[in-house]
Amino acid sequence: MTHDKIPLAGVLGRPVAHSRSPHLHGHWLTTLGINGYYIPMHVEVDDLETVMGSLPRLGFVGVNVTVPHKEHALRLADRVSDQATRIGAANTLSFSPDGTVHADNTDAYGFDQNLRQAVPDWQPRSGPAVLFGAGGAARAVIVALLDAGTPEIRVSNRTRARADALQRDFGDRIKVIDWNMAQDALRDAVTVVNTTSLGMADDAAWPVPLDMLRREAIVSDIVYTPLETPFLRAARHVGCRCVDGLGMLLHQGVPGFERWFGARPQVDNATREAVLR
Ligand code: ATR
Repeated sequence: MTHDKIPLAGVLGRPVAHSRSPHLHGHWLTTLGINGYYIPMHVEVDDLETVMGSLPRLGFVGVNVTVPHKEHALRLADRVSDQATRIGAANTLSFSPDGTVHADNTDAYGFDQNLRQAVPDWQPRSGPAVLFGAGGAARAVIVALLDAGTPEIRVSNRTRARADALQRDFGDRIKVIDWNMAQDALRDAVTVVNTTSLGMADDAAWPVPLDMLRREAIVSDIVYTPLETPFLRAARHVGCRCVDGLGMLLHQGVPGFERWFGARPQVDNATREAVLR
């Protein structure tokens, strides 16, 4: 860094106390020996615009944004990356010295890198994917799978209209499958992903039978509390290789950290441990 200010970054959310990002970035700052800070900030919806305007003047080089600010931050930004536009939300903001806000979304990158690190022989081009859920997280996973060359993405959601909307937004490689027909769509799937909130915090059973799955299928969940969701447990019973959602969180943080603090951090076991502690 050429300037003598201590670089600041953080995460804006409401609530934000549960966020693991301060542990992630704090770990990287320490291991890379960077004199900077990353702090959680509770921001009310009505205050987002004022906060985004003030942070650059306080010495912030950028922030992550999480629920419920991801769509609003995108609309408020001065410049928006392709990925953020396609996903329809921002998760990473970078501030220029003049206060210009650049919005990006690194969730698709995080999803892709997590699968590639955990399963180096993952072949997304070799066959269809099945995706459960059609919320905000589903959009990021769809962008990742499309960019990875997945020939067909079968989207199944309890509320079918939301899956239809994704099909309209992302085009012909998206096929909508009725929630109660989803198990047939699994038969030849190469990649299977849960983006619903099912399994988060409660112990509800996974509702769609997975016994049609091939054992070669790669199965992932974006939920990481618990690390082994009922969905992943069911897939493990079939014998599939399962990738938990924590790695997506770790990898999505890499581009922001590098942009803000000027060094590229590693995602390794020590990173996982630091975030789980
Ligand atoms: P996110 O932005 O994290 O994806 P979201 O937009 O609230 O969050 O989406 C949550 C997803 O979990 C949706 O796909 C939702 O299905 P609906 O569109 O039908 O609401 C899904 N979901 C949540 N609880 C569910 C349940 N009990 N059974 C099936 N799907 C569920």
